[in-house]
Amino acid sequence: MTKTRLIRLFITIIIGVAIAGAIAAYQVKNETAKTIKSSVVAKNFGGDFTLTNHLGENVTNKDFENDYRLIYFGFTYCPAICPTELQRISQILKKLGENGETIQPIFITVDPERDTVDVMKNYISLFDPRLIGLTGTVAQIENIKKAYKIYAAKVQEDGMNDYTVDHSSFIYFMGPNDTLIRIFKTGDTVEDMTNIIHRYINKS
Ligand code: NI
Repeated sequence: MTKTRLIRLFITIIIGVAIAGAIAAYQVKNETAKTIKSSVVAKNFGGDFTLTNHLGENVTNKDFENDYRLIYFGFTYCPAICPTELQRISQILKKLGENGETIQPIFITVDPERDTVDVMKNYISLFDPRLIGLTGTVAQIENIKKAYKIYAAKVQEDGMNDYTVDHSSFIYFMGPNDTLIRIFKTGDTVEDMTNIIHRYINKS
């Protein structure tokens, strides 16, 4: 690792920890009340977007605004974190069984230049069959990254032909009317996440 790479990684971790800490504090604060079922992180979150799914079809926020969703941002060349998180989403859906049938899992790339429609299609086939992969132009992806407060930056390491992408790793749990219900971190267990999600979807 070069020095700049180390500094960049350090900054990424600091940003990630700061965001996660703020979210965790918010969530804990909100759960001390008996409002567990109605507590949410944000309403009307995310805003408008237009992207292309893994079948090459145009999709917009309108297609999902009333669904329960588990959303993860990453990239298909990611060596470890992304496949692990998508695997965790698959496990949650399996644990929820019939209860989880209304949940739409979505993987959105932060690397649209390499993650073409075909690349996305192949990649998501490794995970839950309901998973939708979304890509787009660089501008479209920049737009949704900003809306979802996702940090991602290309990193060119010495001695490597290809770049990698440093990125924040959160699983967003969203509900009807673009409500951001929860932000799960890599440290949250599949069991805890499943229990929390179950409480919300059980309500409807
Ligand atoms: Ni990744």
